[in-house]
Amino acid sequence: MASKPEIRIVDTPAMLFQAAASEFIAAAASAIATRGRFSVALAGGSTPKGLYTLLASAGSAIPWDKIFFFFGDERHVPPDNPESNYRMAREAMLSRVPEENVFRIHAEEKDAGTAALLYEQTLREFFQLSPGQFPRFDLILLGTGPDGHSASLFPGTTALNEKSRLVVANWVEKFNAWRITLTFPVINNAANVTFLVSGAEKAPILKKILETDEDFPCKHVQPSNGKLVWLIDRPAASELSNPQTQKTA
Ligand code: 6PG
Repeated sequence: MASKPEIRIVDTPAMLFQAAASEFIAAAASAIATRGRFSVALAGGSTPKGLYTLLASAGSAIPWDKIFFFFGDERHVPPDNPESNYRMAREAMLSRVPEENVFRIHAEEKDAGTAALLYEQTLREFFQLSPGQFPRFDLILLGTGPDGHSASLFPGTTALNEKSRLVVANWVEKFNAWRITLTFPVINNAANVTFLVSGAEKAPILKKILETDEDFPCKHVQPSNGKLVWLIDRPAASELSNPQTQKTA
């Protein structure tokens, strides 16, 4: 049974990244103490760059060698392309991480479907999955766009209905482009899912997501046995009926 999301509103983007870093470090400490490693799927786009930069600045306080980095989605571009989520994360943080601990989506593959199949194999091997089993990430970081998408699960796209694959190629008409994305069964099997939402441009969609019954892909993120947290800064929360600002812990 999905638990109710925890909604935390903080005053500024800096406090958002601090709160997200605290979530990350707490989840990592717990996973490493329990199982000796921490698996995290990174969000793409621009918002999380502030978190990744902050984590990188923590240096050796973070047990990088015990953390294994994956990606929630990727654009269908090579890793050195300015649009690449991998490139963004590598420039912000992953240069601190042992190369063997970073599992990028090979989006340079000519066929996006092949990139998805390769990434599924990577997940099967890392999590030592049996047929039909889904990986359980310790943490999945997500954002949402003005249309309420998350990862590359966009409104009206076929990936929204995927119930058995771990990773799929998803055609996104409005970008006239392929994306590669984790599917809802994988996202909803995570131990922790944290949304990071920052900026006034997200205020309209956030109000619709949190205060109406309108359907959006991000609303289908409901971890069946995991913690769901929405970390929101005040500009993004500015259209909510009663944004209670909480000081970060
Ligand atoms: C991507 C992301 C995507 C992102 C949202 C929000 O590949 O773009 O995975 O789902 O999280 O589009 O992006 P911003 O943080 O840039 O607003």
